[in-house]
Amino acid sequence: MGIAYSPDTNSFHLQSDATSLIIQIVRGKYLSSRYWGQRLETWNDSCELVFVDRPFAPNPDPTDRAFSLDTLPQEYPAFGNTDFRSPAFQVRQSDGSTITDLTYKSHRILEGKPQLEGLPSLYVESESEAQTLEITLCDDLIGLEVALSYTVFGNLDVICRSARFCNVGSEPFALLRAASASFDFEHSRFELLQLSGAWARERHIVRSALVPGVRGFGSSRGASSHQHNPFLALITPGTDEDLGEVWAMNLVYSGNFLAQAEVDPWGGTRLSLGINPFEFTWNLEPKATFQTPEAVLVHSNNGLGGMSQKFHQAYRTRLCRGTWRDRVRPILINNWEATYFDFDETKILALADQAKDVGIELLVLDDGWFGHRDDDKSSLGDWVVDRRKLPGGMESLARGIQERGLKFGLWFEPEMISPDSSLYRKHPDWCLHVGQRPRSQGRNQLILDLGRPEVRAHVIDAVSAILRCAPIAYVKWDMNRHQTEVGSASLPSSAQKETSHRYILGLYKVLDAVTSSFPEVLFESCSGGGGRFDPGLLAYMPQTWTSDNTDAVSRLKIQYGTSLVYPPVTMGSHVSAVPNHQVGRTTPLPFRGSVAMGGNLGYELDLGKLSVDEKGEVRRQIATYKEHRGLVQFGDFFRLVSPFTSPAAAWIFVSPDKTKAWASYYQVWSEANLAVPFLKLKGLDRNAKYQIEGLTKTFGGDELMEAGLRVRDLTSDHQSCSWLLKRVE
Ligand code: DGJ
Repeated sequence: MGIAYSPDTNSFHLQSDATSLIIQIVRGKYLSSRYWGQRLETWNDSCELVFVDRPFAPNPDPTDRAFSLDTLPQEYPAFGNTDFRSPAFQVRQSDGSTITDLTYKSHRILEGKPQLEGLPSLYVESESEAQTLEITLCDDLIGLEVALSYTVFGNLDVICRSARFCNVGSEPFALLRAASASFDFEHSRFELLQLSGAWARERHIVRSALVPGVRGFGSSRGASSHQHNPFLALITPGTDEDLGEVWAMNLVYSGNFLAQAEVDPWGGTRLSLGINPFEFTWNLEPKATFQTPEAVLVHSNNGLGGMSQKFHQAYRTRLCRGTWRDRVRPILINNWEATYFDFDETKILALADQAKDVGIELLVLDDGWFGHRDDDKSSLGDWVVDRRKLPGGMESLARGIQERGLKFGLWFEPEMISPDSSLYRKHPDWCLHVGQRPRSQGRNQLILDLGRPEVRAHVIDAVSAILRCAPIAYVKWDMNRHQTEVGSASLPSSAQKETSHRYILGLYKVLDAVTSSFPEVLFESCSGGGGRFDPGLLAYMPQTWTSDNTDAVSRLKIQYGTSLVYPPVTMGSHVSAVPNHQVGRTTPLPFRGSVAMGGNLGYELDLGKLSVDEKGEVRRQIATYKEHRGLVQFGDFFRLVSPFTSPAAAWIFVSPDKTKAWASYYQVWSEANLAVPFLKLKGLDRNAKYQIEGLTKTFGGDELMEAGLRVRDLTSDHQSCSWLLKRVE
């Protein structure tokens, strides 16, 4: 790892384990993207920039018709002074102009990685783990300073980027756009990769061709969203799991974002990611600063598999934090699909008895325990136990569950308020809204304005009071609607477009306060399933409910797609009843169990309705998972067969020392008269010998990875098989 400045080439060379990023100061002032790719030992500008006079590419220096910012690969571009591509930032000044001219002023190289103010980011545990380059750009005419920050790590092959704006002038500015990262490539021989979908169909893998112009996607819903994940990558055409080059960016942010790839007229590509400029304006008074969220950049020369390994390692070890980062995650039962709102203490304790009997470790009481919430029409905000359902209160229920040998977890939706709630009657202006305009509802609810300190204090107190009143070991933190009529009663008209970002900053403050006051509690985030599966929330809550869709077939795609960026230990995955409540499909219990074991295993059904045989199967699943969950949660994960391109899926978990592995193959549907499938494993030690549970022979790691394993006895739809491998020599 290292960051070096070369006066000869006037450039910065950032090196991590396998990646180099090179930024050059061109003509003494313009910051230029010069190289991002496989690590170089040295860089001496072999492919130096050539400037060509291009018609309709204007020139900032009237004496030089060959030089235009429109053709210069730029690191943090402006709009309006000769570059016609999408800018990384825009600042409106008091005279109405948005023209800026940011040029290089200074730089410094720091040991370690400063934390971003008010925003989650990757961290270091000691300064020697990373180095950070801060390049300050300046527009002296208006007094604007922008510090671009780049961190490289010793043990992680990711680069973190962000920008900090500072008004060092005497007039106020309005920041209209502020990307976290932008990078210009001098060619466009790429495909674009994104993770997109919808509620219950999150993070499907979408690849598309790049064509001239802007290809972009994002969120303007106030949440990172089910619809698009804040991730994009450029890949060389034909890239697969093992081969091909990948340049990926992922935003550590849970709100509105914009991801773009723009192919310019000269055939170059600008890749950028940051807060969505649509409906965003931030006022920057003199001396004020604005910090963008962090973008995590990954380059892989080993296809998508190589990219995922890098994201997984970074997120498992230096994004997720706290007591639970390295702790084995419990197997839980959640009562949602078992009872919905129709439960009482007796039913929940009966479920706990059943759960204990099959080996489950934690019972989570979902929505409906507070206020008078018998459906989704009321009570959000009134975090007071409903004594009709739980006559002894939360403490009594939690103790009852503990006495049965289980830990107790609880569902909250703290960011929301029901119009039918005491809180709303008392504070009707505490929700996001715009003056006298009607307040649109989503799932019969409104959103608390977390930008307001008094609202945040109330939420922190309300959640903390419940967490203190009973032995609660786990929290499911839900959020079930997107923002409309985005406005805040506490902000002047000039600051209304800050509301959405202030909401996210407020949310992070709340999460920081609650999670640090209850360090022993395991927090799982949720937003109608996977509507906020993003690194911002993972920094506070180390796992996320991957999707409300619990159908095993749908889950193969959702979990497979999610794993492109996020490690399996961050994914909640549960076995539910059939016919499945979201898609109506019936799949066998062993298949459902095996798919759910691809993440943090849980159950979400009425165990009391299972037959003796089915209970036996659940018991077997739980025993197997307990024995091998270390592999799933802390091992290396490799995708083997894609459900997006075949009627099957497969993956393997391998222990970091390669002594154990667990591979699974899923047949989604069967076809007549096809070749009997085989599975090439990955991640093993080529030179080692492995014993497979249930087989007498041993096999070389090389053979298992090159020749593969025969997949036997799959005779119909929705069947799976798994192999447990142990290194023997
Ligand atoms: C949406 C979540 O994703 C579900 O799992 C469940 O908790 C419901 N909300 C409860 O309202």
